[in-house]
Amino acid sequence: MLDCITPELCERIAKSDSDSNGVACKFFKVGDMGLKTYKNEEDARESHNLQMRAYFLELAPEVLSDVFQIHLKKVGYYVYGFMTELVDVAYNKLLRDNGYDKMPNGNKDAIQHLQQQFKELYQSHDYIMLKTLLEANDFEFAAQDLHLKNWGWLNGEAVCIDFMA
Ligand SMILES: Nc1ncnc2c1ncn2[C@@H]1O[C@H](COP(=O)(O)OP(=O)(O)O)[C@@H](O)[C@H]1O
Ligand SMILES: [Mg+2]
Repeated sequence: MLDCITPELCERIAKSDSDSNGVACKFFKVGDMGLKTYKNEEDARESHNLQMRAYFLELAPEVLSDVFQIHLKKVGYYVYGFMTELVDVAYNKLLRDNGYDKMPNGNKDAIQHLQQQFKELYQSHDYIMLKTLLEANDFEFAAQDLHLKNWGWLNGEAVCIDFMA
């Protein structure tokens, strides 16, 4: 595991805006790594443990640090998080491949075209394999919650990024 948590890195993160927010996790892109943060230590540790276990089964990106505490100056509170390898999230990749960086609101035809592709992704070999392997390895919650913002590709392989119930 990397020991990449320098004071400079923490200072940089503390001042930045998050790149994506899920329900539980605030996510930051930090150079060529990601930082997953949670409001409480238990959630961070659970997410860290689940991702470690999944990584050894080649179903998740690598966990690159232990859990550490960091003060987010922009939002004004402490969070707990860990560094992770970056994944090309399925939802983002599909938009990007179609020339968008977010849903093209108001453009009915474009939205319909994208929705058709979202549907096809749920029937793809990568998605079905990943879901099946998650189920077979007791990641039931992750398998059930495998929407397009919870998985993506890493070196051409489909991996899950969200294991939290
Ligand atoms: N390893 C990662 N690589 C790239 N993006 C990520 C990674 N982990 C999380 N994200 C981004 O952060 C968002 C929220 O993270 P997620 O683990 O799904 O948290 P939540 O449990 O809150 O849904 C994801 O939908 C994705 O956009
Ligand atoms: Mg999620």
